[in-house]
Amino acid sequence: MNFPIQIVETTPTETLWILETYNTAYAFSWNQQQRLENVYWGTKLRYPTDYLPQTLMYDPLGNWNFARNTYEEFPVWGDYKFNEPCLKVRFRDGVRAALLDYVSAETTGDETVATLTIHLQDRHYPLNVRLIYEVFAKHDLIVRRAEVENRGSEPIEIEQILSAAWHLPQRDSYQLTSLSGKWGGEFQIQRVDLPRGKQLLERRRGSTGFDSNPYFALAADSTVSETSGEVWFGALAFSGNYKIVIERDAFEHVYVTGGIHDFDFRWQLEAGETFQTPAFIGGFTNGGYGEASRLLHQYENEHVVPRATATQPRPVVYNSWYVTEFDVSFENQEKAAELAAKMGVELFVMDDGWFGQRNNDRAGLGDWTVNRDKFPNGLAPLINRVNELGMEFGIWVEPEMVNPDSDLYRAHPDWVYHFANRPLSLGRNQLVLNVSNPDVQQFILNFMDDLLGNNKIKFIKWDMNRHFSEPGWADAPQGRERELWVRHTRGVYDILRQLREKHPHVLFESCSGGGGRIDLGIMAYVEQFWMSDNTDPYDDLFIQEGFTLAHTPLTRMMWVTDTNWLNGRSYSLDFRFHLAMMGVLGIGADLTKWSQADLDQAAAFITLYKEIRQTMQFGALYRLRSPRETPLSAFQFIHPSQQEAVVAVFLSQSQFGYFSTNLRLEGLEPDALYRVEGWDVPWSGQALMQRGLPIALKGAFVSRLIRLARE
Ligand code: GLA
Repeated sequence: MNFPIQIVETTPTETLWILETYNTAYAFSWNQQQRLENVYWGTKLRYPTDYLPQTLMYDPLGNWNFARNTYEEFPVWGDYKFNEPCLKVRFRDGVRAALLDYVSAETTGDETVATLTIHLQDRHYPLNVRLIYEVFAKHDLIVRRAEVENRGSEPIEIEQILSAAWHLPQRDSYQLTSLSGKWGGEFQIQRVDLPRGKQLLERRRGSTGFDSNPYFALAADSTVSETSGEVWFGALAFSGNYKIVIERDAFEHVYVTGGIHDFDFRWQLEAGETFQTPAFIGGFTNGGYGEASRLLHQYENEHVVPRATATQPRPVVYNSWYVTEFDVSFENQEKAAELAAKMGVELFVMDDGWFGQRNNDRAGLGDWTVNRDKFPNGLAPLINRVNELGMEFGIWVEPEMVNPDSDLYRAHPDWVYHFANRPLSLGRNQLVLNVSNPDVQQFILNFMDDLLGNNKIKFIKWDMNRHFSEPGWADAPQGRERELWVRHTRGVYDILRQLREKHPHVLFESCSGGGGRIDLGIMAYVEQFWMSDNTDPYDDLFIQEGFTLAHTPLTRMMWVTDTNWLNGRSYSLDFRFHLAMMGVLGIGADLTKWSQADLDQAAAFITLYKEIRQTMQFGALYRLRSPRETPLSAFQFIHPSQQEAVVAVFLSQSQFGYFSTNLRLEGLEPDALYRVEGWDVPWSGQALMQRGLPIALKGAFVSRLIRLARE
């Protein structure tokens, strides 16, 4: 593979950049119209000349149509074009239009990650813009971000700044896939024919949230499947308010713009300051939705999840939240720990309830000292006991929040977002701390540093349990109040970064009432995500399918629990374990009520999981059959070495007898022989992919986990 970026000077005034990955190409040029415009994004073409901008073959258009949307890489607002702008600014003299000229470009990096930086400069004002393209050739991905620098002596006001615009080639139709959901029902896949006009994926409540996730996929038509077809896809690496705008105009031009939401947003760019946008990751594949996900998963595993722990298998967790809720004590935690240790659990996590006057969700949040009624001798006896049992210890925190009934709030009522003369809305009886405020950041950093420094803690579950409201920042520096939507998220990232530096052995989990803060931004600071408070394994099949569209199984944590409280359904241990094993495995059940037979069976599942977890956490995922289509769904994982595959099959209901099918596997080496667990004769990869694994299941909520070993 050559260096992935080629620069072609087509004429003295025109330049073409070609960004090539293993299978795709992305080309744009500075053209005669003095615009930086996209030329192509899709399958890699044969010759560099294939990417040259072409003369239009349609008739000249009338005056009104002339103002069509441009193909600009970073449209700015202010002149005779009407794209969703990536940049809208206001200069000190009242001018609200930017006009950017190309200055220069440079490349750095190597074949793995090659970077192209395009320097643009406003024609009149001291405003510099850098467009950064990181090319991840192996993953067929381009990671884009922008930097805006004020090189003058007066502030410039930013009213809108998005990370990138992605232009898709013309096709007869497109299908848009997005992820929407709710608490306990995260990541529901929504697929619609893309209509004319603008589709908006957005979040305006402070954090990533349930209702929509910063991810999109656009397929060239409705026949695109998991295994084939053209898919353009992207994900935004940001955990605060965002918007992704997908526009299809009357000329069948489809483009996607996204970044930090401009709603209630302003940023004062002081003289000498630079604003950096979050990264917007974009990719293309011919291999359908499944391949699009695998490209993202591999990129996340190799470049996004924290580097220090990226290749470490994630431990098996126990957490008693659903058993004890706030009523934690040394005794009940010790009892659970003893049983969990016998099963083979590696990390014992104490959830909410251990601090302040936290006996329910109405008090104590913010008071991060151990509750001495529950733990008279502090945390040490429990941690020691857990360690003695051969497990590491983890603990729950919710640092960005406070209950009004807390010492913290009584001491610092001004530390929460609020507006003067307006009542405060409570969510789960709590308020949001103003993490934009440096004093609040320091408070969080200090108590977390103490907690980790004074106790042998291996794991932090970092929770966040309400939306933002009344987003007032009373003592904000003049004119900077509306920066809180960005400063809060950056503050959280910064605290996590500092904690990781100081306590490099600690693992982190991002939780927000379940999967309310899952995105590629926070993924850089945490090992894993709590996928959902809903531990019903049937529901989780659906959540899992949607989660994995954009997020790697390496980050997905799910527990085996008792009778599901949300739907009131009970399941066999097999069904619960098989579901929870498709990522990072946890247990959250009341083990004191389990029979010895169940405890033994669970121990056997954990032993099995440890044997296959490299495959389940780091393997390539193939979503063989969707739970949305038939009662039988199936997921396949292939070990990175290709030596092992695991297939998990789930039947929700049989009807009229057995549900039988030949489950066609994917991604195997056609010529290699695979031994299927329980079979005498190995089959070739080709046979397993063409004839398929014969499956016949009956009953309700039955499942199988099938292992294949390459010979
Ligand atoms: C949230 C989390 C749960 C649990 C509780 C504790 O709801 O999603 O897993 O930690 O908070 O209050």
